[in-house]
Amino acid sequence: MATTNPIPRFPAGFLWGVSTSAHQIEGAVDAREPSVWDLFTAEPGRVRDGSTAAVACDHVHRHREDVALLADLGVDAYRFSVSWPRVRAEGGLDFYNRLVDDLLAAGVRPVPTLFHWDLPADLDWLERDTAERFAEHVAGVVARLGDRVTKWITLNEPAEHTLLGHALGVHAPGRTLLFDALPVAHHQLLAHGLAVRALRAAGAFDIGIANSHGPTWPASDDEADVAAADFYDTLLNRLFADPLLLGRYPEGVGELMPGDVEADLKTIAEPIDWYGINYYAPTRVGAPQGAEIEFGGVRMPAELPFSVREIEGYPVTDFGWPVVPEALTELLALFHGRYGDQLPPVVITENGCAYEGLDDADRITYLDGHVRALHRAVEAGVDVRGYFVWSLLDNFEWAEGYGRRFGLVHVDFGTQRRTPKASYGWYRALLREQRG
Ligand code: FCB
Repeated sequence: MATTNPIPRFPAGFLWGVSTSAHQIEGAVDAREPSVWDLFTAEPGRVRDGSTAAVACDHVHRHREDVALLADLGVDAYRFSVSWPRVRAEGGLDFYNRLVDDLLAAGVRPVPTLFHWDLPADLDWLERDTAERFAEHVAGVVARLGDRVTKWITLNEPAEHTLLGHALGVHAPGRTLLFDALPVAHHQLLAHGLAVRALRAAGAFDIGIANSHGPTWPASDDEADVAAADFYDTLLNRLFADPLLLGRYPEGVGELMPGDVEADLKTIAEPIDWYGINYYAPTRVGAPQGAEIEFGGVRMPAELPFSVREIEGYPVTDFGWPVVPEALTELLALFHGRYGDQLPPVVITENGCAYEGLDDADRITYLDGHVRALHRAVEAGVDVRGYFVWSLLDNFEWAEGYGRRFGLVHVDFGTQRRTPKASYGWYRALLREQRG
């Protein structure tokens, strides 16, 4: 339950925001080149409700209304993503140019993510060259927006894009390569490093990445369960954080990566100014169970060296994800301990939950609990500089389609009418309190 105790005050200058991504809200499919997600959603059976993001929240045509919602909410910053396929289309950057101007006029700081999964359909992360193409794209975006945008995010969740999109096949581009998907991780990390260099060359000085992380809980004390949980922790947490923060892959992983890995690691570990963490829930992991299992709508083949298990004893969201705020404090303590001085200031770049309804008390409970858990991490000495709620609007939730509502603002996808939910009022009040 959300309590009436005020949430303790965060340090001065703490950045409060909300996040979205291009493919999930923009629509205006005709004004962009196709992405891997357009091809994927066109295949029958890929998206639970058979929907596509061709219209989504029609944000390209309604961005003024959405900026007004941000201004009224009172956030310091808005995290959105720049669609690479749109930038490639005639006049595509003009849209982001206008969006940035509108945000600044409304007193909201633009924080673009330069890649949030919607890869142009003719590109492929299995190819090293995609990393170079990305750096060129980034150079073009910063040349146009860099006089007004000061805070940048290179990639969103390369872990999910690798695992769900290329290893397990439930996201675009729908590949089921299992561990042969590892080059996709390496090429995205390389793309990140090259993008950091392109941004720095254009004078940017406030650069981060948004990685998804979460504590991994072993299913039991049994040695096999602990080893499996360790393996999963390496996959979700270390595989993406170690190269960025320590300049090396976890033991045994570098050998599996393509190219001149040692040279690439120097690029990948280009210093960043802050480290973005998307946190939703912990994962409970045990030894493999010898058969294919389905977990959270994801089919996990028997040959994986771990199996994901149900977490019991906590409420769950409509997505079935357990609500465990204290695991956010645990995660930040883990990173603080693991990386020490190598961990730059942290920003929570996503946190949120799927619930139906306008009177969304469950979302308020979730957010309230997580913001308090974040504050406990700050008190424990973790340098946290910001918090972004996922998401401003109900939107196209990837393979789940429109059935999972993460927004502070309800969207009627028939009429495109926006209606702020109770949680929007709660967040607005929190921001006022924090500044008051
Ligand atoms: C994250 C994604 C984001 C959204 C949330 C619910 O993994 O980055 O686009 O789908 O989950």
